Parts: sequence; C-alpha cells; structure tokens
Amino acid sequence: MSESRWSHVDAAAAAVRSEPDESTGLAAARGRPARGVLIAVEGGDGAGKSTQIARLTRWLDSRGRSCVVTREPGGTELGRAVRDLLLHGACVSPRAEALLFAADRAHHVETVIRPALEAGQDVITDRFMDSSIAYQGAGRELSADEVRELSMWATAGLLPDLTVLLDVPVQVGAARRSRRGGADRMESEVAEFHERVRTRFVELSRSAPERYLVVDGALSADSIGEIVAARLESTGWFEGTP
Ligand code: TYD
Repeated sequence: MSESRWSHVDAAAAAVRSEPDESTGLAAARGRPARGVLIAVEGGDGAGKSTQIARLTRWLDSRGRSCVVTREPGGTELGRAVRDLLLHGACVSPRAEALLFAADRAHHVETVIRPALEAGQDVITDRFMDSSIAYQGAGRELSADEVRELSMWATAGLLPDLTVLLDVPVQVGAARRSRRGGADRMESEVAEFHERVRTRFVELSRSAPERYLVVDGALSADSIGEIVAARLESTGWFEGTP
C-alpha cells in the first residue's frame, strides 16, 4: 500500500500537533496538541477495547483531564441508525458499506469529536478510520488508498494523535466473541476475513510508528493498562490543561 500520496495530509497534521502554546511555549517543546488529545482505540473484534477504554478514561480522570468517550459506528443519533443498518441489516454491498462507515465518521467528527477537541477536551474513540482501512480495505478487499482517501475527506484531515492497537490472534478474538454471543454482520465473517483485517491494522501501525502504540491484546488487562499508561505518561501531553 502506497503511503506517499498522504504525506501532505500527515505533514499538515504534524504542523497542528506542534503549534506553539502561547502561554508557556512548553507544550510545543513536548509536541502536545494545541487542543484536546484525540486517542483512537483499534483492534479486531474481541480485542478487549472496552476494558482498556474504561481504564484509559480513569487514567485521564486521575490527571484532572476532561474527556469524552465515544465510538464508531454509532457515536451520534444519526450514527446509531447507520450502525443498525451496517451491523444488523441485510446484505450491504462493499462500496455502500464503506460509504456508510464514512458517513457515520463525517457526522461524528463534525458534531462530536472536533467540537470537544476545540473546547480543550480529550477524546477517546472506540474505532476510527483505521477500522475502515482494515475492514473495508483489507476485509472487503477494496482499495486501501481509496478507503483512506474517503475517510480523510470525511474527517477533513483529522487524524488521531495516538492510536492504541490491541492486537490479538484471530482465534483468541473469536473465542472472546463467542462467549458474548450474538455475532453481528462483521463478526460473522470467516476467519480469513479477520486475518486480513488483523494484518492490515499491523501494517498501518508500521507505516507511522510515532502515532501508534501496538499492544499484545492477549496480555492481562492489568498489563495492557500499564503499558498504555506508560506511553501516555511519556508523551508529556497531559501535564496541565490544554
Ligand atoms: P464495534 O462496535 O467496535 O464492535 P465490537 O465491540 O464487537 O468490537 O464495531 C462494530 C463493527 O464494525 C466491528 O466489526 C468493526 C466494524 N467496522 C468496520 O467494518 N468499519 C469501520 O469503519 C468501523 C468504525 C467499524
């Protein structure tokens, strides 16, 4: 997958991240975003995102940060209707599926994520554009570049400051899912589909390692929580208010 066509977007995102903080100048030195911090939590089905999102929220709370927890698809009223169509409806063609996830994301960014970030709140989102590149790009075998372009258009160029990828073997995710019961349309896909999704997530993390934390999702919840907290601590982004 070629990354070169995205270099202008990545450069713009980097410029936003290092914008000087006029009050202290310190944040710029530590590379803190000049607004709230956007963290995406990604991974295959059954990777353990919910548990880690709850821990992450407590970690931010303990630092006195104001944080919004949201998800895709379904972080807005419109999104909840789209989620229902996507996960519990009848057959959806691959391109229609990609467009519906992108529509959910566009509305979510415009009405929930961007306003919160601009108000200085941190945002944790359970899935973001990497899910589209992995599930629709690799799972459905659409063009990764096209799916990414669609998502970048939907978000008007907004990228997460950090993406936490919980990487679990497909069989481990499947076993956890089956304990929950009631598989949705994506979860019911064959193992090869989920293998392609997993591989693509890892490829994405390798293409921009500074924006990712990849954690072995088969570790205990405590161990994962400690690894995530250590990475957040090391960024220096959460010292004081944005
Ligand atoms: P999610 O609510 O995270 O399900 P779970 O909690 O069971 O992991 O995600 C719903 C499903 O939607 C999941 O199978 C991944 C899929 N999905 C996509 O295919 N593309 C996307 O862009 C997003 C955001 C999710």
